[in-house]
Amino acid sequence: MYTGEKVKLRAYKREDMELAQRYLNDSETRRFLAPGIPYPYTLEEENKWFEKISANNDNYSFAVETLDEGRYIGGCGINRLDWKNSVATVGIFIGDKNYWGKGYGTDAMKVLLKFIFEQMNINKVKLFVYSFNERAVKSYEKNGFKREGVLRQEMFRDGKYNDEYVMGILKDEYFQQNCI
Ligand SMILES: CC(C)(COP(=O)(O)OP(=O)(O)OC[C@H]1O[C@@H](n2cnc3c(N)ncnc32)[C@H](O)[C@@H]1OP(=O)(O)O)[C@@H](O)C(=O)NCCC(=O)NCCS
Repeated sequence: MYTGEKVKLRAYKREDMELAQRYLNDSETRRFLAPGIPYPYTLEEENKWFEKISANNDNYSFAVETLDEGRYIGGCGINRLDWKNSVATVGIFIGDKNYWGKGYGTDAMKVLLKFIFEQMNINKVKLFVYSFNERAVKSYEKNGFKREGVLRQEMFRDGKYNDEYVMGILKDEYFQQNCI
């Protein structure tokens, strides 16, 4: 159920925290991520996060692991779940840069969408992405996300204000594209 063509999604393990900390302290990766993750991100903070998600039964944070080498390369999951309106807001990062642009992120998101639509019966999945993150936008489009709106000059980074896109995919669209 949680396995794609290149990766599987699994629960986080304490052993992942050291690599997770390294991934999340990388400036190139952080450029694409929402502000709010402390910097520098300490192993202690990472361990606290691990304890928090492990204690929460309603947690949907997954580690992304490659199928061929069993390597932990990043994470994805639901950041916000609105049961009343049936909307899940998701996020993803591939922290090992050797795996960027090789289909791993798209595959991980595909597995996450399958879980959310086919197991959780959610009606809409949405996410936020900075306009300069072209690789991410392309990856999301490959999974059927559509751009729904532009938050103009939402975020100041690298000396200028940048737009942020809201992208979404509906359950009907997901099932149409997956012919189930
Ligand atoms: C965004 C992310 C999850 C995408 O996963 P990925 O495995 O790198 O992406 P994929 O290889 O599956 O797909 C990327 C697509 O964009 C293309 N691409 C790669 N680099 C690109 C670039 N610099 N500009 C435009 N397109 C690019 C690829 O060619 C590919 O398209 P194709 O399959 O048609 O050739 C991953 O790159 C990542 O985590 N990056 C750092 C953190 C981040 O940006 N998180 C998302 C925050 S919203």
